[in-house]
Formats: sequence, structure tokens, C-alpha cells
Amino acid sequence: MDMMMRIAALSEETMKAVYPEVQGLPDKQEIRGLLAVPPDPKMGDYAFPCFRLAKPLRQAPVKIAQAMVDGWIHSDVARVEAVNGYLNFFLQRENFARETITRVLEDGLQYGSGEEGKGKTVCLDYSSINIAKRFHIGHLSTTMIGHSLKRIYDYLGYQTVGINHLGDWGTQFGKMICAYKKWGSREEVEKGGVDELTRLYVKFHEEEEKDPSLADEGRYWFKKIEDADEEALSIFNWFKELTLKDTAKVYELLGVSFDSYAGESFYNDKMGRVIEELKEKQLMTMSEGASVVDLEKEGMPPCLILKKDGTTLYATRDLAAAIYRHDTYHFDKCLYVVAYQQDLHFRQVFKVLEKMGYEWAKDCVHVAFGMISFEGEALSTRKGHVVILEDLLKQAVEKAREIIEEKSPMLENKDEVARQVGIGAVVYTDLSNNRIKDIDFHWDRALNFDGESGPYVQYTHARCCSVLRKADMEEQELYAEALTDDEAQSLLRLISRFPDVIREAARKYEPSMITRAVTDIAQAYNKFYYEHRILDDDERVAYARVALTKVTRLVLQRGMYLIGMEAPERM
Ligand code: ARG
Repeated sequence: MDMMMRIAALSEETMKAVYPEVQGLPDKQEIRGLLAVPPDPKMGDYAFPCFRLAKPLRQAPVKIAQAMVDGWIHSDVARVEAVNGYLNFFLQRENFARETITRVLEDGLQYGSGEEGKGKTVCLDYSSINIAKRFHIGHLSTTMIGHSLKRIYDYLGYQTVGINHLGDWGTQFGKMICAYKKWGSREEVEKGGVDELTRLYVKFHEEEEKDPSLADEGRYWFKKIEDADEEALSIFNWFKELTLKDTAKVYELLGVSFDSYAGESFYNDKMGRVIEELKEKQLMTMSEGASVVDLEKEGMPPCLILKKDGTTLYATRDLAAAIYRHDTYHFDKCLYVVAYQQDLHFRQVFKVLEKMGYEWAKDCVHVAFGMISFEGEALSTRKGHVVILEDLLKQAVEKAREIIEEKSPMLENKDEVARQVGIGAVVYTDLSNNRIKDIDFHWDRALNFDGESGPYVQYTHARCCSVLRKADMEEQELYAEALTDDEAQSLLRLISRFPDVIREAARKYEPSMITRAVTDIAQAYNKFYYEHRILDDDERVAYARVALTKVTRLVLQRGMYLIGMEAPERM
């Protein structure tokens, strides 16, 4: 049990003893939620506002606080004082330091992990890039949030399935094949890759303006793909391979991987069943020639299932995909890490699943996120303002390399470290805010070694490693009294809360909570580092501070891992 919970439990126990049989009092969970960290450590390590008890007890908070202190159940966890209607808790610092450090060292790299997910499966649909398009910065958030959530759930014992729901279906692929046959060549496409495919696609639209009959030809080729025509499919699969080869480089740089690449086309032969089922359950109606599921009662526009010409839609494939995933993985949760713009789409799809009678529809969650802009400029494919992810990452590595060259010219593996720091800077920026907030990517912020940034956290980790290299001490008993100062205690408090942070992050699908935690821990460590000499002349003190450094390092390393950052040992 963490410290806050123990204080909350003691408070509940005391409250029940002092005020037996009163209704409407908070339980320990609620008390824990109300515990705050006072801005001034002189006011205690935690404080509980007794205002919450005033109504059920019909007493003034000041009186309640005093009565609680008088009746306080004694323990070695914390001392308590009543001030202005608050209960101020002062941890028994020595015990707290000893317990926290012992626990982290015992758990090691498992610190904060858990078994609560055992036997449960979480599917995560993330990254889900589109075929024949370059991997641009607009797909960074889905990739990194999904990747981080996967690691977080893994860490909590869940079985996870990472799915890249490829955008590999649609009439545009018919047009692309048509353009390739008319104006392309194998060599050009092999050489130019996805850029050449884009060129062909743009060319198609230019030519179509002059000759509208091209549209039919495009449709003709799309139909051929749908009907699994050998030639059409082989060209299409080749385009797909090219795209995946292009994106594989990015995934490798980011350290991201998937368990499945079942994309939209995978559901081609699985939609018939869904359509039949919708008919059987009398959920399909006709609207202007199209087949839809009416959602008027639910306050949403109808969900389109089949177009006038009988072709399926994005939503049709998502319905088939959800059912397939449930049949295959028996998920307890299926997360869709997709931009906030698709909010309506997912609400519709989940609602249709519910109407079909799938009670597990409630376990499907749209994990939405905001937009990303670059150096203050909104990105738009239409205006040609796109930032190719591979370019961005390579630039980040180059810039990191320059900074490292300047800061640590003697470093041995500069290339390796530059890669870790450059990529880390991008990942950190992406996961540094509440996911629903828009992000503005700025180089000087991302790579600011002194600010709140990836390099800053990595640098602090490397600093810990350097202390540990120099320390090399014999194992001895921990002299916890050396860790009762304010700086050590603030750091320890953050470290002791880390397991809770992971769970909160999982519950809210919010990796940024971990980013926040590692940043706070890095800052607290640096404060401690500047205020105290780690390798003190008193060996017992030195040993205690080294132990604190060791647990800090462990938690930083784990935290960075959970958000998808690497942790170099030297920088
Ligand atoms: N490919 C889509 C896009 O780039 C995202 C797909 C998300 N996943 C899904 N099951 N619909 O916008």
C-alpha cells in the first residue's frame, strides 16, 4: 500500500472511532483523493481538508480537525496536526525513506508492475497508416500513444495485441493502378517509392479534369481489386509492400512494433456476414439509395453501411473488424488510438455494435488525441505543408548529435546516443501533454537540455548512472536518517507514487501522466543533487544517498521505457 493510501486508511479508521455511526462520511478511497501536498513542507507532507466532513457531521472544520487529532490512532506512519480545519500529516521520514528504498530495490526493474491484468486481453489499434502515403507527423501521436499504452498494459500483466489497421482499401487504389498503367513504370516506382505513387495519383486527378471518363477507368481497376483479379492484386500488393518498407524505417527508429497488420482490406470477405446480420436484426434501412443504420434516436446521423452502388465503407469495415477482434482475441478492452476528428465515426460504430446486441460494445474505447503543428504552422496535406516523419526523426538525431558534440566531445558512442536523444526528444514532446490537447512542435523546446524535455530527463538518468559508477560501495545497512531532509523526501514521495501513476495512466489512457512523473522525479533529483553532496565523507550518509540515486535511476529508466524512450547511460 502506498503512503497516501495508508494515511487515508488511518484517517478513515480514526474518523469511524471518533464519529461512530455517522452516515455520509467519505471512505478511504475518497479521502485519498482529497489528500493534497501542501505547498510549504512546514505544513506537512500531506494535508486533508476537513471541510468535506462539515456537512455530514454538522460541525465546523476547525473543531473536526481537532477532534480527529485528539482521537488519532497511533502508528509509525505519520504524525498529525490540526491547523485551520486541515489535518496536516508529517510522515515519519526515516521509516518512509527506508520503506520506499527497500521496496524499489527489491522490485528492481519490476517496480510498479502488477498482475491485475492477468488473464485479460487489451487490443490496441494504433498507428494505422494509409497505404501509398508517406508516414507524416500527423500519424506520430497515434503511433506513440498506442505504443506507450501497450507497454503500460503489458507492465500491468495484461495480454496485449497491437494492431496496425492499415488503410489499404478504397477507390484511390484503383486510380493509382490506372495511373501506373498509363504513365508509370516499374523502375520509376521502385526508385521513387511512395513519392512516385503520390505523383501518379496527383497526375490522375490532373488528367481526370481534362478527361472525365478516366474516373470510370479508375473504378474499373478498383472493382478488379475487389474481385481479386490477379493483375490488379499483384500491383496493389506491390504498392502495399513499398509503403510498408518505407514505414518500417520509421518504426525501427521509434522502436515500435505490432502483432498484427490486418488492415481494412483484410475484412473484405468478412463484411458480408455483418451485412446479413444487420438485415436479420432489422437494423438496416434505405436512405437515398444507400443502406444505413438509423441513429436518429441516439442523436447521431445515420451510420453508412453500403453506398448506392453496393460498395462498403470505412464504418462497414470497422464493424467487421471489431467483431473479428472480439471473436479472435476475446478482448476485455479494445482501444482505438485515433485522432479526435473521428469521434463521430467511432460513436456511430460502437452504437451500431450495441444495437446488434454485442454487450462488449461498451468495452470499445476511442482514445482520441489533438492535432500537431510544426513550428507554429498547422499541417495540411492539401496545402502541401507536410512534415515527413522520417525526415523529422533524422533531423532530430542530427541536431542532437551537434549538441552532444559540443557538450561532451569525449563521449565514445556519440552516434548511438544522438539517436537515443534525438528520438527521445520527439517522443517526449509528443507525450508531454494531455493527449486531447493540440501539440506545437518546436525544435528549441524539444531539444532544450535544461527545460522540461526528453534530453533533460535522459541527462538526469545519465547523471545518476555516473554517480553510481563513481560510488562503487560495499553493501551495508541503509542509514535512512540521512534521507530525512526536504529534498530527499520530495524525491522519495514522487518515487513512492510511481506505481499509482502507472495505474492512473492506464485507467485514463494517458501516457503523459508518466511523462509528467519522470520529469518531476528528474527535477527533484537534480534539486537533491545540488543541495547535497552524494559522496559524503560519512560513509553511511554517502551510502544512503547512493541508494536514493539508484532507485531514482531505476524509476527514470522504467518511466522512460513506458513512454517509449531509451535511456542512455552516458551523455
Ligand atoms: N487509417 C486511418 C487514418 O489514418 C485510421 C484508422 C484507425 N483505425 C480504425 N479501426 N478505424 O485516419
